[in-house]
Amino acid sequence: MRGYLVAGNWKMNGSNAANRTLVQGIVAGAPAGESVQLLVCPPFPYLAAVSEMLGDSAVALGSQNISAHDSGAFTGETAGNMLRESGCQYAIVGHSERRALMGESSQNVADKFQAALKVGLKPILCVGETLEERESGQTDAVIDEQLNAVLDTAGVESFVDAVIAYEPVWAIGTGMTASPEQAQDVHRHIRAALEAQSESVAANIKILYGGSVKGDNAAGLFSKPDIDGGLIGGASLKSDDFLAIADAAASLESR
Ligand code: 13P
Repeated sequence: MRGYLVAGNWKMNGSNAANRTLVQGIVAGAPAGESVQLLVCPPFPYLAAVSEMLGDSAVALGSQNISAHDSGAFTGETAGNMLRESGCQYAIVGHSERRALMGESSQNVADKFQAALKVGLKPILCVGETLEERESGQTDAVIDEQLNAVLDTAGVESFVDAVIAYEPVWAIGTGMTASPEQAQDVHRHIRAALEAQSESVAANIKILYGGSVKGDNAAGLFSKPDIDGGLIGGASLKSDDFLAIADAAASLESR
């Protein structure tokens, strides 16, 4: 059973006070049962404090990035073992903001994916096309390039302990959500690419959708057969908004 994962990517938002209110709200209102896993990904300086706040709740903790290196002269970078020691179980890699704004290549992302696995963190590999790429019919080719870099570097079996997030760049922070059908088409494409190498990996991996997910569009997206939850930006910063998305997942039959 794959179950659902609803993950909050806080991006560069938060403060000690705001985080406390947000985490308390999420922990108090998290849907009961095991069909929906919740995850929060705060900025680095808050990881340890948020880990403490989460305590023994079932809400998991993840980072928004990870260094490809173990340790050493990499000023400003954070290694996987440090993230583990700060309480993380997941690490987002290859978010489109990092690919576009920080110049991360698909090979950089593949190296980070491996670095996460090496220390027992589950990487959440983000892939997605820009509007220009979609409009020129390149969506599948862009996804293939981003996915193949990781498959070639880490191998299909490495996806046993990974999550993929399809985040069309044009839908991030724009209010322009992909329709459930548009998202499902790409999710199916991703699962089929994995299926070609391993049926069991493809059947078990969670593929999240990200891009303007809200309480009122989540159920439509998550009810599609290849959409296993969401990577949520703006709507992860208020517990009521985030929990509305979690509740949408919990209302669906788990699979
Ligand atoms: P929004 O939900 O704000 O569109 O952001 C999505 C995202 O980038 C999550 O990683």
